[in-house]
Amino acid sequence: MPSSRSVPTVRKATLPDFVLRQFDRGSPEYDHRQLYTILQTGIRDAVLAAGSRLPPTRLLAQALGIARNTVVHVYEQLALEGYVQAGVGRGTFVADLGPRLARPPLPVTAGAATAGRSTLSRRGAQLVQAAGAASLQWGAFTPGVPEVRLFPSAVWSRLQARMWRSAQPQQLSYATGAGEPSLRQALAEYLQGTRGVACTAEQIVITSGTQQSLHLVAQLLADPGDSLWLEDPGYWGARSVFRAMGLKLVPVAVDAEGMAPSAHQLRTPPRAMFVSPSHQYPTGAIMSHGRRQQLLDYAAVHGVWVVEDDYDSEFRYGARPLPALQGLDTHGRVIYLGTFSKTLFPALRLAYLVLPPDLVAGFTRALNELYREGQTPQQLVLARFMAEGHYTSHIRRMRSVYGARHDALIHAIRHHFGDALPVIGGDAGLHLVLGLPPGLDDQAVVERIARAKVMARPLSLYHMQQPARARGLLLGYGAVQEDEVAANFARLAHAVQHFL
Ligand SMILES: Cc1ncc(COP(=O)(O)O)c(C=O)c1O
Repeated sequence: MPSSRSVPTVRKATLPDFVLRQFDRGSPEYDHRQLYTILQTGIRDAVLAAGSRLPPTRLLAQALGIARNTVVHVYEQLALEGYVQAGVGRGTFVADLGPRLARPPLPVTAGAATAGRSTLSRRGAQLVQAAGAASLQWGAFTPGVPEVRLFPSAVWSRLQARMWRSAQPQQLSYATGAGEPSLRQALAEYLQGTRGVACTAEQIVITSGTQQSLHLVAQLLADPGDSLWLEDPGYWGARSVFRAMGLKLVPVAVDAEGMAPSAHQLRTPPRAMFVSPSHQYPTGAIMSHGRRQQLLDYAAVHGVWVVEDDYDSEFRYGARPLPALQGLDTHGRVIYLGTFSKTLFPALRLAYLVLPPDLVAGFTRALNELYREGQTPQQLVLARFMAEGHYTSHIRRMRSVYGARHDALIHAIRHHFGDALPVIGGDAGLHLVLGLPPGLDDQAVVERIARAKVMARPLSLYHMQQPARARGLLLGYGAVQEDEVAANFARLAHAVQHFL
């Protein structure tokens, strides 16, 4: 039953009445899903006329009693799907969908040609609907974001100025190879020395982010319909890329030793598997030596590609980082993925693949063909940054900064919850998981936390399989200063208490 509400502080005339009438705070459906469906149906059925203005996000959020971010997210999704148009500073307006869409809705399963509800293809609509990226990427406790304020920008700009003085014309044109040779060389030395990766510079291909590396892997090593094992819970970014490339996703459970395929799953070898053995995302499990060997043996026998995502293992508090899976591989089955997003800053958009030697030429050709890569100036600066030792000193410094923030967060958790809520996987990286009781709606918890101006992500979002969904909060400590952890966590804890 829709709940009756009073909206004393909001000018009712600016709000579409039917939204208020239909929105049900007591509904088990997630707020964003509910609001999206109400607005999308209203536009599709022409209840909201083309050209009419949607209420400002703040007003609508206030009227419905939900987080403003939720409304922003819904408007963004409607804009992506062509239902509304947003003009900077002008507001959001219902798009003119044409007479075609005034007809009754067509079945969603009918495919791109008949899916009149959206301007997107079936694949596009699925991608947008299942998208996992958060619309906020900074602030306490945004997961996976490093402390960008401590990046040594003075050193970087000095190296950048030097690079510009000596840049050659071809370095400012389209790139034609696998990346700047000096960067590939510096990386090979770094990876051999610190991550146990067995490689030469020639095996490295520079990309503009892990997402792009994954696209290349999917396009070059699999065909639509091929099956791919994914850790469940796992990284939504990988899931989205592989799904969009038409692969058949097979969720594989994760235990304390990492990805744990069942006997049944082992009977049908996939084309590839995607794993994060050094620091499973998001649970933090470290793949045991035995499990590594089992998966590598299996991959060698069945010709399976092993895609290893090593995204943040530089930051480990206590034990030494475990060497990469790639270093144990004697059959050339492992594709190793690394990124500078966590060690430096995400907006740099530089990452890399380490490939078995016979794949390098094909990947390089495809990189140039599909993306016409460049960013050579950034790569030149980064190569010098590494060669002069700034990279390793920055990592060393940040390890101790994050270690202190990690301890402050654990302290705050214990202060508010004692041992009532478990901390999962807090020994490495930039985030930990605060476990919540089974069955609790962690998405609702996150929405309430957002109203307290703190960021968290629901653990359930990282699961593919409904019954297995664990509940919890991913909390990042990269983007919050040590002395701000306690106050921010107190607000978060207050919001969580409401549900316990
Ligand atoms: C599991 C995992 N792998 C890799 C990345 C890095 O992605 P990118 O290099 O595209 O920034 C992230 C970023 O959030 C991540 O969470």
